[in-house]
Amino acid sequence: MEEEKKLSGPNFAQGLSLTELSDGGMLQGHAKGEPILVARRGDAYFAIGAICTHYGAPLAEGILVDDTVRCPWHHACFSLRTGEALRAPALAPVISWKVETRGGKLFVHEKQPEKKQATVSEDASENVIIVGGGAAGNAAAEMLRREGHSGGITMISADDAVPYDRPTLSKDFLNGTAGEKLVPLRSMDFYREHEIDLLLNTRVMAIDPRDKSVQLANGSHRKFDALLLATGAEPVKLKIPGADSPHVCYLRSQSDCRAIIAKATKAKRVVLVGASFIAMEVASSLIQRKLEVHIVAPEAVPMVTILGPEVGKYLHRLHERNGVVFHLQQSVVAIDERKVTLKNGHAIEADLVVIGIGVKPLIDLAERAGIKTDKGVSVNEYLESSISQIFAAGDIARWPDARTGGNIRVEHFVVAERQGQTAARNILGRRVRFDAVPFFWTTQYDFTLNYIGHAEKWDKLDLDGNIEEHNCKLSFQSGGRTVAVATVGRDRASLEDELAMELSKL
Ligand SMILES: Cc1cc2nc3c(=O)[nH]c(=O)nc-3n(C[C@H](O)[C@H](O)[C@H](O)COP(=O)(O)OP(=O)(O)OC[C@H]3O[C@@H](n4cnc5c(N)ncnc54)[C@H](O)[C@@H]3O)c2cc1C
Ligand code: FES
Repeated sequence: MEEEKKLSGPNFAQGLSLTELSDGGMLQGHAKGEPILVARRGDAYFAIGAICTHYGAPLAEGILVDDTVRCPWHHACFSLRTGEALRAPALAPVISWKVETRGGKLFVHEKQPEKKQATVSEDASENVIIVGGGAAGNAAAEMLRREGHSGGITMISADDAVPYDRPTLSKDFLNGTAGEKLVPLRSMDFYREHEIDLLLNTRVMAIDPRDKSVQLANGSHRKFDALLLATGAEPVKLKIPGADSPHVCYLRSQSDCRAIIAKATKAKRVVLVGASFIAMEVASSLIQRKLEVHIVAPEAVPMVTILGPEVGKYLHRLHERNGVVFHLQQSVVAIDERKVTLKNGHAIEADLVVIGIGVKPLIDLAERAGIKTDKGVSVNEYLESSISQIFAAGDIARWPDARTGGNIRVEHFVVAERQGQTAARNILGRRVRFDAVPFFWTTQYDFTLNYIGHAEKWDKLDLDGNIEEHNCKLSFQSGGRTVAVATVGRDRASLEDELAMELSKL
């Protein structure tokens, strides 16, 4: 049953005075029982669905950029003209409505006809194989069809589930607030309807670039005209005695998460090894499941190298206030059935251990195929690898970053999806550069931080506002340039700074 839609603001079916919408302005209201956003650009008026199709943010709290609106929460972008989801993480469009202006008023009554798919370009590849059914692979498959690719699309995934929302695994899925149905990005029917051949539980063992084929685990071969590698990453394994015990878990896949949930329902005390994003998010989720949570990590301040001392210390306090016990500047040297032993000899009882000490990109397929790698698969600005018609996207791709001038690889969900979308367009011969500003977010308890840009190092960090009040902005600077911005409770600032970075004004 469709959820009842919450309506607010003016009823556009009854008319809105044009004077209430200034140039560059937007306003949420409704018509025909649907929430609608109207926007004005010069003398042009637009009306589209007001709610982001990703996690349901109110688009009116975002920003307008040319004839698009950007979502305040995770920076998806929708066309004001067609409602199309132009940039991930939203994949589905919002409804586009016809706008009528008469007698100094604007009226919205009727939906626009759905957009026809673009025609495929002449030099488009016929048969596309995507290795990996994660964020990048899924976004690429969808975009190929959306952009009019009429040839075959085969997405081969070692996972047992349709592509899913991996970030929710350490957040709402693990803490129990999101049910199973919120996790898949699309249903199996979606892939059938779009004639995307999705092979689950299927591992690609080798790529033959000369024969243009991939070999599957069952020994069969599949031919391609273009190939997208999107194999993602796997957790770094802890190599200490007892690390392979049944109560020791890693979190990458949905089945990993289900296993942690099953164990958490019987466990009393969990030890998390590492103070990475995943470990800290898992801590927050398992506290919400009423477990006693301990974190063991070598750093003195959690996340200090990525987010700086202010945020790191704040997160430390936030977790402690929620009951997490930290064992910092420590490491785990052994695990047995009932306890973990630390380097200082101290033992912590634990009936569940979750290890989150980082991931490594899965690049062995590429290496064995002779594709150039550099702690990732090396790609150019079009995401094409050293071998023509073989592309790479997501956690494995190392690409030339338009802003820093260096080759970078990041492990962010939105970047993976956007790269999948760009790779799809380039497979179709569009020659689109990947130049999106990297974006990620983390949520721990009621604290959400958005981060744009890329700062492996910085020499100056400016804090504006108050972290405790969840209202601040941190600017990471290197050589006098802002290379990254983190915000808490300042969604518009995050969008505005992202735009400024795109235009290289920061
Ligand atoms: C628990 C968790 C929480 C996260 N939270 C956030 C967050 O809040 N914000 C954020 O920005 N990022 C987050 N991330 C990171 C984000 O999910 C990844 O950056 C993103 O999923 C990478 O997408 P990808 O397509 O490159 O790889 P993946 O999504 O990992 O997909 C890779 C796919 O390739 C398949 N595969 C691998 N090898 C083969 C093979 N040989 N043959 C066939 N298939 C193969 C895998 O089974 C998988 O389906 C999180 C990650 C995890 C694990
Ligand atoms: S809610 Fe809009 S991008 Fe996530």
